[in-house]
Amino acid sequence: MIIPRNILEPVIKWSGSKRLVAPELCRYISNQKRYIEPFIGGGSMLPFRQIPKAVASDIIPELVRLWNQIKTNPEQVADEYKNRWDRLQSDGHGVFYEVRDSFNKTKNEFDFLFLTRTCVNGLIRYNNNGEFNNSMHKNRPGINPKSFKEIILKWSYFIKDVEFRECDYRETLADANKNDFVFLDPPYGGTKDRYTKTEFVLEQFYCELERLNSVGAKWILTFDGVAGSREYDYQLPKEIFLHKTEIKTGNSPFTKIMKTTVDAVYESVYFNFKPTAELRTDVNQYVSQELVFV
Ligand SMILES: C[S@@+](CC[C@H](N)C(=O)[O-])C[C@H]1O[C@@H](n2cnc3c(N)ncnc32)[C@H](O)[C@@H]1O
Repeated sequence: MIIPRNILEPVIKWSGSKRLVAPELCRYISNQKRYIEPFIGGGSMLPFRQIPKAVASDIIPELVRLWNQIKTNPEQVADEYKNRWDRLQSDGHGVFYEVRDSFNKTKNEFDFLFLTRTCVNGLIRYNNNGEFNNSMHKNRPGINPKSFKEIILKWSYFIKDVEFRECDYRETLADANKNDFVFLDPPYGGTKDRYTKTEFVLEQFYCELERLNSVGAKWILTFDGVAGSREYDYQLPKEIFLHKTEIKTGNSPFTKIMKTTVDAVYESVYFNFKPTAELRTDVNQYVSQELVFV
C-alpha cells in the first residue's frame, strides 16, 4: 500500500509537533547508519527518517511505554482505545473523568492515549502535582476506533526498527558517534519538565551539541522561533552550527485557544553540516511524496 505523506495522521497528538514540516525536514537526513531522536514527543519525524535503525527517547515514562505498545502490541492499543471510547459513547462524559482519575493514580499508557484523544484541543497538561488536569472536549467525541486502528497499525509498521528509551536526552546521546544522525526538537529553553521538575538548561544543551560536533555525529535542530510579533530567539552560539534557516511550522496554539488573531509560527532550523539544497519554507506548496507501507 502507498500512503501519501500528507495524509499520515498522527498516532500520538503532541503540542509542538513537527508533523507539518517532517516531510520537508527529512530530505536533509543524510545516509548515516543510525538515527537518534532524544526528544520524541509525538514522533512526527519517525515515519520519514529513511534510516531504519533508530533510537528514540523521552523523559515522560507513560509516553515511552505507549510508543513501545504501539510498536509491539498495536492490536491491543486499538482495543484498549475502543473499550474506553465505547464506554464514553454509551455512559457519557463521566467516563472521561473516571479514566483521568485512574490515569493519575496509575499512569497507565492506554488511559494516557485515550485522554490525549478526547481532552480539550488534545493538550497534555499537568498541574503542579503532576496530575493530568485538562477537561473533556465536549463537542468532539474522539477519533472513531475503526479509523484509529488503521492509523495505529501503520505507525506500528513504521516504528518496527525503533528502540524506545525512557531517559534524559544526554543519556540517549552518550554513545553517539560519526555514524549517527541526530534530530533534535527540544522544549523551549528555561521550561521545566512536567515530571522531574528539572529545568531544560540551555548551557547544558549547547555543551551536548558541541560534544556531538566533536565526535562527528550529524545533527539538525529545530529551535526557538517566532510567533507573530513574539520572538523566542535564544541565539544558538555561532560556533556550534554551520547553517541556519527558518521554516513555518504552523499556527500558535495559544492564540488559537484565546481566539485572538492567529499567529504564524516560524521555527529556526540549525544544521551542523551544509545541506545540499535550501529548505522550502512554505509547507503548503510541497508536492505530496509517498511512503511505502507493505
Ligand atoms: C517539542 S517536544 C517534541 C515534539 C516532537 N518532535 C513531535 O513532533 O511531536 C519536546 C519533547 O522533549 C521532551 N523532554 C523534555 N525535557 C527532556 C529531557 N531532559 N530529556 C528528554 N526528553 C525531554 C518532552 O517530554 C517533549 O516530549
